Amino acid sequence: MAVTKKGVTDALKEVIFFKKQNNIVDLGMIHELNINDSHIKVSVVFPELADPSVGIITNSINKVLKEKFGNDITVDIRPMSEKELGKGPMAGVKNIIAVISGKGGVGKSTVAANLAISLSKAGKTVGILDADIMGPSVPIMFGVEGQKPGVIERDGKGIMIPLENYGVKILSIGFFVAPDQALMWRGSMINNAFNQLMTDSEWGDLDYLVIDMPPGTGDIQLTLAQSYNIKGTVLVTTPQKIATADVRRAAMMYRQEKLVIPLLGIVENMSYFVPADMPDKKYYIFGRGATDALAEELNIPILGRIPIVEKIVETGDNGEPITLDDHSPVTAAFTDIAANVMKEVEKVDA
Ligand SMILES: Nc1ncnc2c1ncn2[C@@H]1O[C@H](COP(=O)(O)OP(=O)(O)OP(=O)(O)O)[C@@H](O)[C@H]1O
Ligand SMILES: [Mg+2]
Repeated sequence: MAVTKKGVTDALKEVIFFKKQNNIVDLGMIHELNINDSHIKVSVVFPELADPSVGIITNSINKVLKEKFGNDITVDIRPMSEKELGKGPMAGVKNIIAVISGKGGVGKSTVAANLAISLSKAGKTVGILDADIMGPSVPIMFGVEGQKPGVIERDGKGIMIPLENYGVKILSIGFFVAPDQALMWRGSMINNAFNQLMTDSEWGDLDYLVIDMPPGTGDIQLTLAQSYNIKGTVLVTTPQKIATADVRRAAMMYRQEKLVIPLLGIVENMSYFVPADMPDKKYYIFGRGATDALAEELNIPILGRIPIVEKIVETGDNGEPITLDDHSPVTAAFTDIAANVMKEVEKVDA
């Protein structure tokens, strides 16, 4: 059979990139295709080259082409990374930071929102992505609840334009779907929604994209870890032993051999309580020591500690995160946390 561009393209459609649940042609992974008699040269773009799927897909390409055109053809496959190409929807995003925890309600969203604002105040370009599809809280915390991001069309595809407030670009599934609707979604729908927020969006050039993750170690955590180039995770815990035990479990998932996503460090939230009328007193309501023990065990730093402060609840609910107030001691704590995150990211890059 004569080797034609159409014939090769049709054959390549049989090669599936399982992580993205589609074939490599429709995923736009074929960068170049040159045919010279029976010699086929193809460059394939992967999110990352240090990924086992690169070898699997290269083998499959070879196999489908030889099955179709016979063993006499020569196939020259060049895997490339999106970065190398300066392309890919997230090429402008330098550092993706996932804020994770094992337990719900320990303050991930609070930390993600205030970290994003603090990084922005430090002069960085920042976005925040709310990946908590079942219980999105970023729209409320950023005071953009009920607003809708714009959607433009590019190459026949809808591209979301993040909203912006307090110097931070914002996207959340909460802009598109009512939470009670999302509760009925299956895992694949959740993953699909998450992937769209990540890649079918105009993030532009960002120094940091902070991801507010849902609690636990479910589908989204795995998708994020396997399909994206995460610079590192920030673990959030409260001081109770029971909370740190759950965080340890979540941390271990990201540390699995195949994922190797750096744990940048731990933020201990609700560390202690300072009564307004006795500012020199600290009450360690949830105990002390468990976070330090976890940090030591995982061999990662404590990025900072946030006290229990009524204003955090109030400002979160009002859509004006506490770090907008330059005089709050909590703002100072978050400024340090942001500085520590940047420092740890530099170490990862070094
Ligand atoms: N340091 C703090 N002091 C007082 N209240 C806090 C503090 N941190 C978080 N909160 C409050 O605790 C509640 C839970 O926080 P948050 O929503 O950030 O947690 P979460 O881990 O994102 O929860 P979920 O698992 O539901 O996503 C919120 O009402 C928040 O305002
Ligand atoms: Mg949350």
